[in-house]
Amino acid sequence: MMSSIAIPAILDRLAHVGVDGLPYPNSCQDHDELELCRSWHYRIECREGRARLEFDHDQLVPSWIVAETPAVAWEALRTEGYLEIGSTNECALRRARQGASAGTLVFAEAQTAGRGRLGRQWFAPPRGGLCFSLIVCPLTSSSRWPLLTHVASAALAFAIRELESEDMIPVPLDLELRWPNDVLISGKKAAGILLETVGTGSSLSAAVVGVGVNVAPGSLPPELQGSAISLSEAAGVRVPRRRLLVRFLYHFQLGYELFARGEHQAILERWKRFSRMWSDTPVWIMEGERTRPGVTAGLTDEGALRVRGADGVEEVILAGDVSIRRSQSGER
Ligand code: BTN
Repeated sequence: MMSSIAIPAILDRLAHVGVDGLPYPNSCQDHDELELCRSWHYRIECREGRARLEFDHDQLVPSWIVAETPAVAWEALRTEGYLEIGSTNECALRRARQGASAGTLVFAEAQTAGRGRLGRQWFAPPRGGLCFSLIVCPLTSSSRWPLLTHVASAALAFAIRELESEDMIPVPLDLELRWPNDVLISGKKAAGILLETVGTGSSLSAAVVGVGVNVAPGSLPPELQGSAISLSEAAGVRVPRRRLLVRFLYHFQLGYELFARGEHQAILERWKRFSRMWSDTPVWIMEGERTRPGVTAGLTDEGALRVRGADGVEEVILAGDVSIRRSQSGER
């Protein structure tokens, strides 16, 4: 198991006492925990013998996340927060196997072994963005579980639009969902979703919805800068991460209610509001080493993509990457 650094308990104590703050230094352990939080850029002011946590909408403080997230689809949100972890998905899968309940959220300031789709890595440096994994335990047929990625990507899109309406994002972003679950801003990837499950075959007991969002400017390595973007870079201001997270959790629950009731078309309609490329769009289909042209022809009830090949034959793509074909040779 990879090493991890849990968010120190003193952070929630500071959040609870509010403007009064805590006596500083109270004990050696408090001192060490405070300094650890400060070294991870939690905004803790130490003045006149007291330590106070400054309130803003960015800091990932567990008790603030719980307090600000309305519970719609599960009784209560439970959080497990880390400063650094290998992968929040890995941790959430372990917790789900140990019986953690639906609505358990594992989040981290940084991941050292973040996973992406199709065996890729997900880059998540300290405070670069959001990386979190949510455990859900659907009772519906597992053949429909892939729709959870549509629930999640649409929830991110709704959350971004909400931050725009609150002026936390001062310009309307050129936002699009790319099948199956990428959030693009101005044609570049700003967020991705990795759905993993617990169990085998048709007897799955839980799913982990892993979400990674590039938020901070300068959080992307040079090799990704042509194809990826951070929300703050696109918005021209620092986008507050906790506000985005709690609004995501709200919209995810709304979508999850539809999912639990079997209203799959409604989920796809929510997703389609943010996507143009699922119908009548020339695309490149990339599966492993193979890339071929096609034209999109709608979605199946499970959210898979229908594509018509050059020979006119229609097929269903379950996994893989799809990008818009702008010309014979050019692609996004
Ligand atoms: C993709 O676009 O390839 C999916 C990326 C998913 C990354 C997130 S970050 C939080 C969670 N933990 C992981 O290890 N991966 C997901």
